[in-house]
Amino acid sequence: MAHNDPVRVGVLYSATGMTSTIGQSQWQGTKLAIDEINEAGGLLGRELVAVCYDPASKPSCYAEQAERLIVQDRVNVIFGGYMSSSRKAVIPIVEKWNKLLFYPTLYEGFEFSGNVIYTGAAPNQNSVQLAHFMTSNFGARVYMIGSDYIYPYESNRIMRELVMQHPDSKVLGEHYLPLDASESDYSRIMQDIRDKQPDFIFSTVVGDSTANLYRAYANAGFNPQTMPIASLTTSEAEIAQMGAEIACGHFTAAPYFQSIESDVNARCLASLRKRFGADCHPNLCWEAAYSQMYLFANAYRQSASDAIGDLLPYLLGSELDAPQGRIKVDPNNHHTWLYPRIGRINADGEFTIVRQATRPVSPDPYLVTHSLGDWTAKLDTLET
Ligand code: ACM
Repeated sequence: MAHNDPVRVGVLYSATGMTSTIGQSQWQGTKLAIDEINEAGGLLGRELVAVCYDPASKPSCYAEQAERLIVQDRVNVIFGGYMSSSRKAVIPIVEKWNKLLFYPTLYEGFEFSGNVIYTGAAPNQNSVQLAHFMTSNFGARVYMIGSDYIYPYESNRIMRELVMQHPDSKVLGEHYLPLDASESDYSRIMQDIRDKQPDFIFSTVVGDSTANLYRAYANAGFNPQTMPIASLTTSEAEIAQMGAEIACGHFTAAPYFQSIESDVNARCLASLRKRFGADCHPNLCWEAAYSQMYLFANAYRQSASDAIGDLLPYLLGSELDAPQGRIKVDPNNHHTWLYPRIGRINADGEFTIVRQATRPVSPDPYLVTHSLGDWTAKLDTLET
């Protein structure tokens, strides 16, 4: 590579298909970081350039395009993935070619690949806090509705184990619907919810059909003040699709909400709006996609290489002032220290933050610490 050749990285966020709305917000976070990095002089004077494909929300396309990026386009690093099924499709490819994947999405945990940096929340950084908050404030009789793939199955398994630590707990229902489920598909489940009267609904529905779930709930006449939906995946992007009136009163646990008041977040949101206009819905996956590009850029500036073996020593243990707060890549498990927060959707379609950790929580992807209400046991300060 000549000393001024661009540094080309692979980018796989869906522009079409059932998870394209959240995928495009991840792309906006990625593009924002790339533009800012290039405006600040690039990577040791080289331009940072994204080679992008549209995996169309299909795991098989993710696998095929990841291999194309590596073999044809000769990239060493890939940024991308929303659904866990897409990450699981890409991992064998990056492991086969010994390349690096940055994955910016909350997921079910119980995984480690030395070829992945995980910048979204593990269950001990969102499920544990959500289970505690919902059981303390509403009760422990839960009804589960999810999309039909690995993340919802596994996330519900974890939520079940956490909620069952409460003395009066019960799982009253567990349903998995296709990614393109309609409002009437969800309405049929609302009949059962009316009969069973849970304390809260745990949704692991993802993508564009999320709006249909919340609409079916609203049209059933249920009240979020007494029986809200709690989720790890309903973000500002999905709220924009369903509208504030439908979303208002429900809860999400995430390390980032657009409403976080910090200088870094304010600067970042202003920079986003300048480039992409007002029609952006920054959310947890947007923020992780943005931050992970900076984690890569900072490591590249030290290693002067994008080969995995050169980057990892600088990536592991590295820290960043992200919009959510100061984060760190854990050197032992490649996951990231993040700030658990609970947000309740308000009448403006924004999250009012009702509880937040004041320090980052270290990632525990295998849930070794596995107790309900564990906001503090794994809290620790960053070294700097
Ligand atoms: C997900 O599938 N990790 C949301």
